[in-house]
Amino acid sequence: MSAPLIIAIDGPAAAGKGTLARRLAAALDLPYLDTGLLYRATARRLLDAGQSFTHPEAAIAQAHALQPADLDRTDLRTPDVDRAAAGVASIPGVRAALLAFQRNFGHTRGAVLDGRDIGTVIFPDATVKLFVNASVEARAYRRWLELKSRGIDANLQTVTDDMAARDAADAARTAAPLRPADDAILLDTTKLGPDEAFEKAMQIVETRKTGGAVP
Ligand code: DC
Repeated sequence: MSAPLIIAIDGPAAAGKGTLARRLAAALDLPYLDTGLLYRATARRLLDAGQSFTHPEAAIAQAHALQPADLDRTDLRTPDVDRAAAGVASIPGVRAALLAFQRNFGHTRGAVLDGRDIGTVIFPDATVKLFVNASVEARAYRRWLELKSRGIDANLQTVTDDMAARDAADAARTAAPLRPADDAILLDTTKLGPDEAFEKAMQIVETRKTGGAVP
């Protein structure tokens, strides 16, 4: 029996990972996991309990206590959760607590997972590894539009500054810093629409599935 098809999609916030991952999962009939939700839901639990990510023990306990229903909450994409999730994600004990869930998710019938360390830490043997990126301005603008569509009136400059700060924190942390795996294929979506990004990714997946090298 061949190994389950694991597609690892990593990259910074608002690079287009989620949209791409969802479409690939639907096209390939694979389960999809947005792993950022695990960190967001841990952060939400922490904030609800009046605790701070500056207390690693509290954050680790919340990661262990995470329930599947926590991932369905509708208040996981607010600016306070953005900040707390970045803090929580820098704690090695939190990452360790969330590791088994992610591996089990892909184990049986394969999966598409998006995050920051899927190709480097969670599934280093994934069949396909994509690193999706775009300029900070393009990503901040997308996030600003998304907030606007949800009725959140944010300032574009503040969104850009927050995003640059989160990029720096994700890349500089010692626990699983954001970086492309050595064998990841880079996909820059600065000038690509969602359809073009999907078509390119599908070509890469088809090539890698048959063991071919991507030019
Ligand atoms: O992708 P996102 O913005 O929903 O992620 C929320 C936070 O969690 C962000 O600070 C990056 C972090 N994260 C991580 O460290 N590792 C992952 N696999 C996914 C997200």
